[in-house]
Amino acid sequence: MKLVRVLLLVVFSAPVCGATDLTGNWLAATPLPDGTQRKVYFDLKQQDSKITGHVRLTQFYYTITESTGTPDAFTVTGTMQDGDSPRRVVYEGRLVGDELHMSTRRRPDAPLTEVVAHRVADGEGAMPARIEPPPLHKVAYNGLAKTPPMGWNSWNKFAGRVDDATVRAIADAMASNGMKNAGYTYINIDDTWEGEKRDANGNITTNKKFPDMKALANYVHSKGLKLGIYSSPGPNTCAGYEGSYAHEEQDAKTYAGWGIDYLKYDWCGARNLYTDQEMQAVYQKMGDALRASGRPMVYSLCQYGRNDVWKWGPDVGGNLWRTTGDIRDAWDSMTKIGFNQDQLSPYAAPGHWNDPDMLEIGNGGMTDVEYRTHMSLWSMLAAPLIAGNDLRDMTPAIHDVLTNKEVIAIDQDPDGKQASRISRSGDQEIWARALAGGAYAVALFNRAKDDAQMSLKWSDVGINGKPRKARDLWSHSDVKIGGADYSATVPGHGVVLLRLSTK
Ligand code: GLA
Repeated sequence: MKLVRVLLLVVFSAPVCGATDLTGNWLAATPLPDGTQRKVYFDLKQQDSKITGHVRLTQFYYTITESTGTPDAFTVTGTMQDGDSPRRVVYEGRLVGDELHMSTRRRPDAPLTEVVAHRVADGEGAMPARIEPPPLHKVAYNGLAKTPPMGWNSWNKFAGRVDDATVRAIADAMASNGMKNAGYTYINIDDTWEGEKRDANGNITTNKKFPDMKALANYVHSKGLKLGIYSSPGPNTCAGYEGSYAHEEQDAKTYAGWGIDYLKYDWCGARNLYTDQEMQAVYQKMGDALRASGRPMVYSLCQYGRNDVWKWGPDVGGNLWRTTGDIRDAWDSMTKIGFNQDQLSPYAAPGHWNDPDMLEIGNGGMTDVEYRTHMSLWSMLAAPLIAGNDLRDMTPAIHDVLTNKEVIAIDQDPDGKQASRISRSGDQEIWARALAGGAYAVALFNRAKDDAQMSLKWSDVGINGKPRKARDLWSHSDVKIGGADYSATVPGHGVVLLRLSTK
């Protein structure tokens, strides 16, 4: 009996928390060159050998669903549902004094990264409380983007390296190298311009890379161009920077004050607070805020084509909406996206465009022939033409692809009718669209590696008899119109793009 009492005393007096307990809030912060920090927050609760809680990093908020070990050697696995797909993060580590020394992989196939987390105040880094989305109503059309927007965006080439000097230099290049003359207007700063913290009044700030956004807008405007910016309806953007959550009206006013002309609004961290079904209401909130700011701004929705955005994009004041996940500078990625847009043609119209993502033309991952296919396909799709390469440094061939005015005229046709696939045979596809004035554009795409002979009946496009004129928009020459058929050799991964006039 005495022995039992002693044992009980030992068990109940053993420390359950203190230096050996992981319970609490932790922050692993890595300084970035723009003066902000990449932050990973851990809110942990340890009960015996079980660890529960959350890991919050960039746009993601994981719930710890598995754990093993003790503070001397533990593993936690966080999981979250991202639309239809689950995500997972694993940290392995140990408590060293009052620091957590851990290792993780950014992606399952990435090398191990070491992180050190320090204790922070209770609640620091917590996900903000959810604000109920507003009831639905229709946001009035802002009158912009009567034809698909044309411009440049920083992400595909520069990602986190975009800064004020680069944006000015790109504006200089666009204004002087024929791009502006060909119709490109918007210079869009993507993610990573935001400061780490809002100011004392809750205003969004910029980081070191963008010392004066208003001065930058003035500069871009002085070149006869327009400036675009980027944010998220979530607390964090995709790269983990400050989003517009709970500050929509205030941010729209700030952008208006700076002289911003275009907003790309990227779902990102909103995924932790809202379901896909709530997207419409969430996007409506910024649509209203932009209208209330009094400055016309093109509103670009970026939520990767979820929840049939093309059905409600115009209702939230959207001028364009992404229809897919992110493009990569590779033939497979570009064609998988571009040739998959067929069902969406009914939803494109002046003021409201399907956006199969920005151009990769000139970024080096495809051949010039493939980039012509990219440009032709996007123009057939009445897609926004947002260049994503370094406009200061283009080969003549890439310059010709991006500034082919006859191809751009297809994209910018005032009727805004997106092409559909009219036939497909193996790797060969023919797409057509009606143009203003009774004309048509027809594209013969050869997705195979080798050259192919392709043919077309004029009647397939909807022309009775023969067109009056058929022009090849890449060779800039009229083609001979023989009988009821047309045929051509189309290079591997290439295209023949024709404009057919009937009057
Ligand atoms: C998402 C978007 C991209 C880009 C990045 C920036 O992935 O789809 O176009 O804006 O975020 O973080």
